[in-house]
Amino acid sequence: MCGIIGYVGKKNATPILINGLLNLEYRGYDSAGISTLESTCISNIKTKGRVKNLYDKDIDSLEGTIGIAHTRWATHGKPSDENSHPHLDNSKTFSVVHNGIIENYKELKSFLEQNNYYFLSQTDTEVIPNLIHYYYTKNNNFLKSVNEACKCLKGSYAIEVLCKNDKDNIIVVRHDSPLVIGVNEDDKYVSSDIPAILSYSNNFYLLDNDEFAMISNSEINFYDINLNKIEKKLKHFDYDITSSQKNGYEDFMLKEIFEQPNSVRETIGSHLSPDSLISFNDFDFKLEDLKNINQIYIVACGTAMHAGLSCKNTFEKLLHIPVTVEIASEFRYRNPIIDNKTLAIYVSQSGETADTIAALKLAKTNGAKTIAITNVIGSSITREADFSLYTHAGPEIAVASTKAYTSQIVLLNILAIYFAETLDFADKNFLNSLKNEILLLPNKIEYVLKNPDNIKNIAKTVASKKDIFFLGRGIDYTVALEASLKLKEISYIHSEAYASGELKHGPIALIENGVTVVSILTDLELLEKSISNIEEVIARGASTFVITNQELVNSNYNYVINIPKTNKFLSPILSIIPLQLFAYYIAKEKNLDVDKPRNLAKSVTVE
Ligand code: M6R
Repeated sequence: MCGIIGYVGKKNATPILINGLLNLEYRGYDSAGISTLESTCISNIKTKGRVKNLYDKDIDSLEGTIGIAHTRWATHGKPSDENSHPHLDNSKTFSVVHNGIIENYKELKSFLEQNNYYFLSQTDTEVIPNLIHYYYTKNNNFLKSVNEACKCLKGSYAIEVLCKNDKDNIIVVRHDSPLVIGVNEDDKYVSSDIPAILSYSNNFYLLDNDEFAMISNSEINFYDINLNKIEKKLKHFDYDITSSQKNGYEDFMLKEIFEQPNSVRETIGSHLSPDSLISFNDFDFKLEDLKNINQIYIVACGTAMHAGLSCKNTFEKLLHIPVTVEIASEFRYRNPIIDNKTLAIYVSQSGETADTIAALKLAKTNGAKTIAITNVIGSSITREADFSLYTHAGPEIAVASTKAYTSQIVLLNILAIYFAETLDFADKNFLNSLKNEILLLPNKIEYVLKNPDNIKNIAKTVASKKDIFFLGRGIDYTVALEASLKLKEISYIHSEAYASGELKHGPIALIENGVTVVSILTDLELLEKSISNIEEVIARGASTFVITNQELVNSNYNYVINIPKTNKFLSPILSIIPLQLFAYYIAKEKNLDVDKPRNLAKSVTVE
């Protein structure tokens, strides 16, 4: 995790660096810091806590036009001033910001200690500036020293380095952590992602693994790991910058929840025409390859994994191929069976999740065909996968994922239909009706979002609870998992999601007077059984909140929210929305920071 920013230009670097850091705070907000090259030294200002805390420091004293900056998600060493980046070497010749983890830092630290270096922080990062200095004492060359130091590092890193003795350049390099360089005629910007510097440039160099860039005001030179000069292509990206602003909403999460009619409309519009034709750009998945596939993995983390779970049944019904949905961090270490008859689909909003990317590389190495489904154009995952499909949901800033999830489900369903049509063996009527239902989704989402106050009132009554349970059967269980994750990550209320039928195998022991149980009931075939499960918790004193698209007769539930009917495979797109609002309003009731919940970051770029 962590976000890094760099600037080389003619303007005062500090406001630009702070602005970039604010855009990157979604990657971590445990501490922040800035280094600038001043006339006689490197100035270094850093602080525990949010980026805005930098305004309480003496940042007006910084005049340099070249600088680097960092916002931290703590891995090694608690959030504190001394563990904040940038880190300087002992002689204060080099300053470094780093995103990633140096796995062999203990070994490097003891090597440096034997060479009389000392350490001020508990971080893995502090070895980097000192190691660069160690080589600098031998070769007196900035670039060579950074290169030699990087050859010693194991793990993942995107780093930016300033050198007191080089008043013109910063050097950047990446290995398994993202880094992009934005360029204008007069200024160069470095960032962990494109949106953070979009207000400055639309033209970017995307650094690949083990590539170095030496960036000055007038030019950028690129090098490979052996310091051979290489050429890089400048890429142009158009993003709508206004969609990363709050537009009058109190929080990004609320804005993103209410954007769902449009984000889903965009996902559909990009891949499925109003006359039901599916098209994917640059997606040359051959019929022979598809015929050869005998198993599908959908691999992801967190909410993206829940989107995968919701779509398992669509793929199995339409393609008659077994589908396994896996958590990326488990998949990559369990020696899964993968061969050239395997299709592996990786879902990631950010396209930067370390475990998901590693799991993709594993499948690719073993001969599988790989598809990345992501929201971020040019993200790391798209550079690894055989094929990439974009959700086009627009920037998702809040840590809690909402609109990305609904768009992922839409896109996965469209992909399943596309494959079924290519193979030509699924029931055409069924496919057509599914496509028609997909086209109706934006209006149905609008309907669900019409009365948020109903949910707000329910949320108020449960905000003080210690535990909340979510139940569902079949596809509703996958929504229960996602609703439970949403609630715990932003409201800090303990919650569990269970398949309703599993309740009496243990967890029902936890149901007592006053416990809140939220049930999702959208599957007509499983309705009666699910209703019986709700009765079982009512009999034990639970208060019940039901989300349903069915007509419930004589129900004795405390709260019911009705949502429109749709095809069973698409129901999570509608049933999750009241539950996203439920989590949101509970967190607001508790006065919590909804967009930046504690201990979390938007992009999980470390294992
Ligand atoms: O960017 P990704 O979709 O790969 O991120 C995966 C998870 O980290 C993410 O969905 C996480 O669980 C969200 N905070 C959930 O709201």
